[in-house]
Amino acid sequence: MKILVTGGLGFIGSNFIRRALTETKDEIVNLDAMTYAGNPENLADLIPHPRYRFLRGDITDPRAVRQAMEGVQAVAHFAAETHVDRSILDPAAFLKTNVLGTHVLLEEARRRAGEIKRFLHISTDEVYGPVLKGKSREDAPFRPTSPYAASKAAADHLAAAYHKTYGLPVVIARPSNNFGPYQYPEKAVPLMITNWIEGKPYPLYGDGRQVRNWIYVLDCVRAIGLLLRKGKPGDAYNVGGEVLVENRALVERTRDVMGVPRNLVRRVPDRPGHDRRYALDSGPLSRLGFRPDFPFDRTLRETVAWYKARPQWWRPLKTSSDFSSYYQKQYEARTKEIAAP
Ligand SMILES: NC(=O)c1ccc[n+]([C@@H]2O[C@H](COP(=O)([O-])OP(=O)(O)OC[C@H]3O[C@@H](n4cnc5c(N)ncnc54)[C@H](O)[C@@H]3O)[C@@H](O)[C@H]2O)c1
Repeated sequence: MKILVTGGLGFIGSNFIRRALTETKDEIVNLDAMTYAGNPENLADLIPHPRYRFLRGDITDPRAVRQAMEGVQAVAHFAAETHVDRSILDPAAFLKTNVLGTHVLLEEARRRAGEIKRFLHISTDEVYGPVLKGKSREDAPFRPTSPYAASKAAADHLAAAYHKTYGLPVVIARPSNNFGPYQYPEKAVPLMITNWIEGKPYPLYGDGRQVRNWIYVLDCVRAIGLLLRKGKPGDAYNVGGEVLVENRALVERTRDVMGVPRNLVRRVPDRPGHDRRYALDSGPLSRLGFRPDFPFDRTLRETVAWYKARPQWWRPLKTSSDFSSYYQKQYEARTKEIAAP
């Protein structure tokens, strides 16, 4: 199968492509705009691969999308602006890429009616908003709270509408928080690990009692591969990890793995609108036969080891002007307590 992957130079997309090229016979076209989060190093070793083709282009550009979708049977749409804190500072880019970009892709797929056998839209558990008790099922109402989550909710609805209105074979995946190799170091887990390698404190939001449902990225990309083949058009599937932990407990577990002192955790004022708890019921995905393969504690240790072994991968990202100007804005917007990188 020839698959158009959007955002394949990012964290989950690059893990998806690496797995597809090593464990399937699929041919991959990767359309990525190479924003600050799209890192060519993530797939540099695969550039000569005969089943891989990279196209630099923006999903909001209909011409780039038309060229990228030529001869394709399936779309795996990962491309997005993804960092909640950035969406609070500057929502416009999130609306453009996440909503309008998704629309451009759906329109091109509609134009190619019959050629595209699956359009897999990658959404997020954040569309449900906070769930204080129990677990969100796929039919739960959307109550997004951040500009990021609101833009992803709009895209999710749009993708579902293209199935209902035009019969496009859309399948929606809603993963929970991912962690693992190749994650940009502004996100919680790699920020924590790399700050501690550098001997710097990790800024913990508020009381640290926000609960998240963690999934190892290699489990997530395997689920996405399954949904591309077996997902029922018109259906949405939660892709949740087995572990629900409070942020402060995640910090403690990672601190134990790395053996760092307590003073390297610094409490900072909470993120505005910070959702208290996400939890997914992934029943429909497990009925397709999916079980997570990777135990949390082991993969957390392996993730720490991965970042320890690759300072040449993350150091240039943390010293880039983009990372420092983002941190500067965070610092000015919130508190002088947030540790500068
Ligand atoms: N990381 C998580 O924990 C998580 C959890 C649930 C859902 N998701 C969703 O999974 C998808 C991938 O997330 P990620 O963490 O890998 O993201 P990421 O930020 O690491 O990567 C995003 C990629 O998209 C590309 N991109 C951004 N704007 C683009 C545009 N206009 N045109 C083309 N390419 C563009 C970037 O260059 C980058 O390569 C996103 O849709 C995200 O909402 C992520």
